Amino acid sequence: MLTIALSKGRLAEQAIELLEKAGYDCTAAKEKSRKLILEDPSTGLRFILAKPTDVPTYVEYGAADLGVVGKDTLLEAGRQLYEVIDLGFGKCRLCVAGPKNLKDGKFDLIPNKRIATKYPNITRSYFEGIKKESVEIIKLNGSIELAPLIGLADVIVDIVESGRTLIENDLDVIETVADNISARVVVNRVSMKMKSEEIRPMIEKLKVQVDIMNKEKEQ
Ligand code: PRP
Repeated sequence: MLTIALSKGRLAEQAIELLEKAGYDCTAAKEKSRKLILEDPSTGLRFILAKPTDVPTYVEYGAADLGVVGKDTLLEAGRQLYEVIDLGFGKCRLCVAGPKNLKDGKFDLIPNKRIATKYPNITRSYFEGIKKESVEIIKLNGSIELAPLIGLADVIVDIVESGRTLIENDLDVIETVADNISARVVVNRVSMKMKSEEIRPMIEKLKVQVDIMNKEKEQ
């Protein structure tokens, strides 16, 4: 039996679609209910639906053998996992964003910057590790764009997907922190060895489907 942790929401739906294309029966996972463990013993798959930020934790501790989660969440969590496939969907960028008047170098001139974000670890390593600048980080849990609008922070570090939230709130990208954010498959390090007969073929079949999907996008 393989246990797969899915990030509740759109990523879960796309992951299930891909697993089905790869030949895995996911009828149990598509059940419309409030159940958090979806299992069909005849298929050998058990799905758990978790909050995205918790998926790396379930997989690191072996409560799930595999997980599907965004690269942003993985970078922030810094867990000991094998990252085996870039699924290519859920694409976005991690950016520093703020009022438009901070573009063109003006952002760099602000002393003691206050930065609001859901990603304090990524933000710290970007500013302190890469830019060699110490900043004040304010952790928020959602609607991050509010912070510079209401005077809580100078800028935010957040994901930008379509860019619509920034545009509609008169904000803009100031710097890109990471531009390769997308959904990834992660595997527990012990499961990779102990259940390799089930996990390795699954990885190979998923990779084939991802290649097909990527080729379709190019056309
Ligand atoms: C995310 C992110 C941005 C928005 C970006 O928020 O934090 O606010 O999506 O998407 P866009 O570039 O397509 O507009 P989410 O919808 O996850 O909600 P949250 O604010 O509660 O985190």
